[in-house]
Amino acid sequence: VSSIAIRFENGKLELLDQQQLPHQEIWVDATHPDNMESCIKQLKVRGAPLIGVAAALCLGEWARSGVSEDEFKVAAQKLRKSRPTAVNLMLAIDRLTAMEFDAEKVFLEAQKIYEEDQQLCDRIAENGSKLIEDGDNIITHCNTGGLATAGVGTALGVIRKAWEQGKRIHVCVDETRPLLQGGRLTTWELEKLGIPYTLICDNMAASLMAAGKINKAIVGSDRIALNGDFANKIGTYGLAVHCYYHRIPFFVAAPVTTIDGECESGQQIPIEERNDFEVRGVKTFAGDVEWAPSESEVYNPAFDVTPSELVSQWILDTGNYSLVDIRENALKELV
Ligand code: MRU
Repeated sequence: VSSIAIRFENGKLELLDQQQLPHQEIWVDATHPDNMESCIKQLKVRGAPLIGVAAALCLGEWARSGVSEDEFKVAAQKLRKSRPTAVNLMLAIDRLTAMEFDAEKVFLEAQKIYEEDQQLCDRIAENGSKLIEDGDNIITHCNTGGLATAGVGTALGVIRKAWEQGKRIHVCVDETRPLLQGGRLTTWELEKLGIPYTLICDNMAASLMAAGKINKAIVGSDRIALNGDFANKIGTYGLAVHCYYHRIPFFVAAPVTTIDGECESGQQIPIEERNDFEVRGVKTFAGDVEWAPSESEVYNPAFDVTPSELVSQWILDTGNYSLVDIRENALKELV
């Protein structure tokens, strides 16, 4: 597979601008670390594994462009701070800065990070597909596919694999307020793949569960603590609580690069807070809608933490893990 979100040719790194999807497919240049930084901050490129891969490729190319070690390190630190929650970003960058500064070697290592992410996705998809059965109606949150990773995705990769195995499944897509990664991006991917789906508002999930219309949930993660607690897009925790009450299996799918070996529990995961206007809407001369009073006080955490006891299985590239496995320190052995 080649990435649907990143193009990298002749020293030029381009990103499919995810802010413009689903209606426009525009590629933007992110070869220079300053451009990459603003693309990450503005979510033109997003998803935990993908921002790690994109930042790594950018630094690999930056090293090769003839900059000094100091210039390289400054750019690396800037990119490392561009978003705080997804640990994949820090891990990918630390891997490059820990090396001896040799432009060609750094470049090759960045390529390796890109290729490895694709392989990790394939293994997650293979492992997770074993948990999906013919006739399943699966709810998912945010976007976890080819637009969030360098490969087939995490949660969405599992869904895709199950579909390719011939299982007749249906996906319920949470629109994912406030930035609508479900409504704009997951729908776009599922359309292209031809997988049947229904788009719902986040607040509809519980009643669909009560009506027996959902029998599995699968989401991705931005950081998994050693005790199995994990951060993911805001709204994931609520979805997990709904699943628990309705006795619906709730799975989290992620590569080992999402496990933070320094984080004992979810309480230590830093949660990004974003701009007010994402919740309130914006009024511009172009007529965008501001649906709340301009002066409204807003709270906008981009992620929440789901405690491990709400998770039925952790689907990783190394296998599927139960709460018992996690309590026996399965994650510690992987990092
Ligand atoms: O703010 P985003 O869009 O970068 O958030 C992305 C998510 O929360 C995904 O679920 C997570 O990164 C896992 S994607 C494989």
